[in-house]
Amino acid sequence: MVQVPTLKFTSGRQIPVLGLGTWLIGGDHNGRNPQNDDEGQIRSLKYAIDNGFTFIRTAHNYADGYCEELVGRAIESYDRSKLFLASAANQKWAYDKETLIKVAKGSLKSLKTDYFDLFMIGAVNPNYSIKPILDGLIYLQDRGLARDIGVSNYRLPELKAAYEYLGKKLVYSEMHYNLIIREPELSGTLDYCKKNNIILSAYRPLQLGQLSKPGIVLLDQMVKKYSKSQSQIALKWLLQKDGVITMTKALNTKHIIEDLDLFGWNLEKEDIKKLDKDFPIQIRLSDCSEPREFKF
Ligand SMILES: NC(=O)c1ccc[n+]([C@@H]2O[C@H](COP(=O)([O-])OP(=O)(O)OC[C@H]3O[C@@H](n4cnc5c(N)ncnc54)[C@H](OP(=O)(O)O)[C@@H]3O)[C@@H](O)[C@H]2O)c1
Repeated sequence: MVQVPTLKFTSGRQIPVLGLGTWLIGGDHNGRNPQNDDEGQIRSLKYAIDNGFTFIRTAHNYADGYCEELVGRAIESYDRSKLFLASAANQKWAYDKETLIKVAKGSLKSLKTDYFDLFMIGAVNPNYSIKPILDGLIYLQDRGLARDIGVSNYRLPELKAAYEYLGKKLVYSEMHYNLIIREPELSGTLDYCKKNNIILSAYRPLQLGQLSKPGIVLLDQMVKKYSKSQSQIALKWLLQKDGVITMTKALNTKHIIEDLDLFGWNLEKEDIKKLDKDFPIQIRLSDCSEPREFKF
C-alpha cells in the first residue's frame, strides 16, 4: 500500500498531497444515472483506498447526491480516522449560512459520518454575499462538523476577502490547475496562497484525461525519459510545486495504481522549467468558472 505524503495545514492537521476525486461517480450534472454500475464503482473506490488513496473529495450535488451515497457505502467498512474526507457545498444550493449548514448536514448523512476532515464552499454565487457563507463554515468548524475549512473557485479578490475575514482558519483553496489551465499562476493566486500558508489544491489535473493521451511532443519526450505515463508527468508537475496538492478521479484499476506511483521519483528542475514555459497549450482562465463580480 502506498503511503501518500502529507502537507500540514496552519491548523496543525495534515492533508495527503494526492486525493481521489469523485466527479461522474453515480451520474453527472443531469443527476443519478439509472444504469450506473454502482457495485463496480464501489469496488473501484475500495480498491483505491486499499492501495493508498485516503483523501477522498466529493460533493453533495454530484449525481444529485447519489455520488455521496456510493462513497458512503464504499467507506463504511474502513476506520474513519484513517480517511481524509472532504466535501463541498455547491453555491446554487448553499448561498447563505443556513443553506450551507443544511447542505453540509445532508452530506454527512449520505456519507454516514459525523465529521468532515475538510469542508468547502464550491464557488462564489455572484447573487449573494460571501460573508454569511464564511460564517456557515465557521459554524461547522466550531461544532466539530468540519475539522478544517476551505474555498473553491475563489479568484484572487474573493480569496483575499475570505482570508481577511477567516485568517488562519482558511487553510485550503481549490482551483482548476494543470499543465493547460494556468490561472492560479498567472492570476497571483498561487503566490498569495504560498504567502499565507493556504494549501492550493489543483482540481482537474488531467483536464479530464486530455493530458493522459500521447500526442503532445513535450509530454511524450518526458514519458520516454522517465518511463512514466503522460498522466504521471502531468500530476508530478503539480506535486513538485511548493504548497500545491492535487486530486484526480480514477475508477480504472490501472489508472489508480499508476496515479499512486508518484512518490520516490522526481522530475528534474530543467524539465519542470520546460513544462512551465514550453508546454504548447496554456490557457489563462479556468473553463470551469465564469469571471464575475462578488459581494462581501
Ligand atoms: N472545485 C471544483 O469546482 C471542481 C471542478 C472539477 C473537479 N473537481 C474535483 O476534482 C476531481 C478531479 O478532476 P476531474 O475528475 O474533473 O478530472 P481529472 O482528474 O483531470 O480526469 C479524470 C479522468 O482522467 C482519467 N484518468 C485518471 N488517471 C488516469 C491515468 N493514470 N491514465 C489515463 N487516464 C486517467 C479518469 O479515468 P477513469 O475514471 O476511467 O480511471 C477520468 O476519466 C473531480 O473528480 C472532482 O472531485 C472540483
